[in-house]
Amino acid sequence: MTCEPTRLEMLLTRIAFFLGGKSVYQDFSDRLPLQGAEKVLDFGCGMGTVAYYTAKRLPQGHLVCLDISQKWLSACRRILRGLNNVSFLCAEATELPQDSFDVIYCHFVLHDISPNDLAIVIPQLAKSLKPGGIFVIREPLNEAETLRGIKRLTEHSGLLLKTSRITHVPLMGNALESIYAKNTSREV
Ligand SMILES: C[S@@+](CC[C@H](N)C(=O)[O-])C[C@H]1O[C@@H](n2cnc3c(N)ncnc32)[C@H](O)[C@@H]1O
Repeated sequence: MTCEPTRLEMLLTRIAFFLGGKSVYQDFSDRLPLQGAEKVLDFGCGMGTVAYYTAKRLPQGHLVCLDISQKWLSACRRILRGLNNVSFLCAEATELPQDSFDVIYCHFVLHDISPNDLAIVIPQLAKSLKPGGIFVIREPLNEAETLRGIKRLTEHSGLLLKTSRITHVPLMGNALESIYAKNTSREV
């Protein structure tokens, strides 16, 4: 179900982006396993905080910014205006085509989705990855039960855990960052 942000929430995110752009969002984007020609999905892109940096890492590639919220996606369009390797999609995971993306990432998104919806979203994201595709998530560490559920669903969807690390995220506390692969043919 769509949940549109309040003006205050949008303002606070803008401030976090202004204050923590490099240390929070670029830091994560820089670790995405990209060569520069991949097709990438930012699932739950919000106002484009991570996408802003990821688009610059894809000179021959393409970034799809997806969100269920029209308001967040409009803000994202504004932040990323002028970039011609980005497209915007207001949609649900179920509307994504199969075998389409080399890399899908979720930055502080999955913990906000109910367990029932996660059971639909995660298998769908796995299907949307190409064979050998990479799935990267970063979610708050204090949501232990949710994180266990995410890991279980991701592995049941046929993705293999390659690496997991705890990172300290300025302004947001500790987070778990995990990289999964659709099969073992691609090194990360
Ligand atoms: C906490 S914000 C994070 C935004 C961005 N990734 C960031 O780190 O700044 C969570 C975002 O996920 C989006 N979202 C939540 N559930 C979603 C779903 N089922 N499908 C797509 N986007 C979703 C929300 O609209 C919101 O923009």
